[in-house]
Amino acid sequence: MDHLIAPSILSADFGNLQRDLEMVNHSEADWVHVDVMDGVFVSNITFGFPVIKAVQKHALKPLDVHLMIVDPDRYLKDFAQVGAANITVHYEACTHLHRTLHTIKDLGCKAGVALNPHTPVALLEDIVADIDMVIIMSVNPGFGGQKFIHNTYKKIKELRQLAEYTNPNLLIEIDGGVDESNAAKLVETGANVLVAGNSVFSSADPLAAIQSLKHSRSL
Ligand code: DX5
Ligand code: ZN
Repeated sequence: MDHLIAPSILSADFGNLQRDLEMVNHSEADWVHVDVMDGVFVSNITFGFPVIKAVQKHALKPLDVHLMIVDPDRYLKDFAQVGAANITVHYEACTHLHRTLHTIKDLGCKAGVALNPHTPVALLEDIVADIDMVIIMSVNPGFGGQKFIHNTYKKIKELRQLAEYTNPNLLIEIDGGVDESNAAKLVETGANVLVAGNSVFSSADPLAAIQSLKHSRSL
């Protein structure tokens, strides 16, 4: 399978969100990455249901919703209702992760788990078969435009190994500091989905930036 690109609208121009979404619609991007932050799980606050509903109205690609919020169970149904195709919760925010993932699946969405940089992949051993996708955070969540953490490559390898027999189709998504300089190596190491905020929306030519991430291959 070719790897997927999910531009993160956290780095879009919120005053021109429709324009930026139309750029994504016309691009080679596969998903639209939507970062929800509650000011508690992470120190930043982004947006909620009315904004996501508006995004859904203009986006032609599936919404990949990344919940950086405590107690996400309270809101899963609402995120499904405003159009999330994928819902990813943080491992660190879920006491009953198995139940949470199955609730997401019952709502008709792909169920994802995100791991903070310090959270070991091995903790997923008894749940990996129930997960559609894992987001390996390659920065500490909360803000766009941060520096990529190199230990991510090791985590990708470990996760591929962990899922080899019980979930060979597991999607591995990398979120944070992804750009042209690391995309090819991430894919080669086993990533299937690359999130990119800053490297797309701060580029002079966002369409070309997406194209280059989509076609990045090692020499
Ligand atoms: C960080 C968010 C990311 C962020 C990535 O907490 O989860 O999705 O938008 O932004 P860049 O690509 O700029 O690191
Ligand atoms: Zn994210």
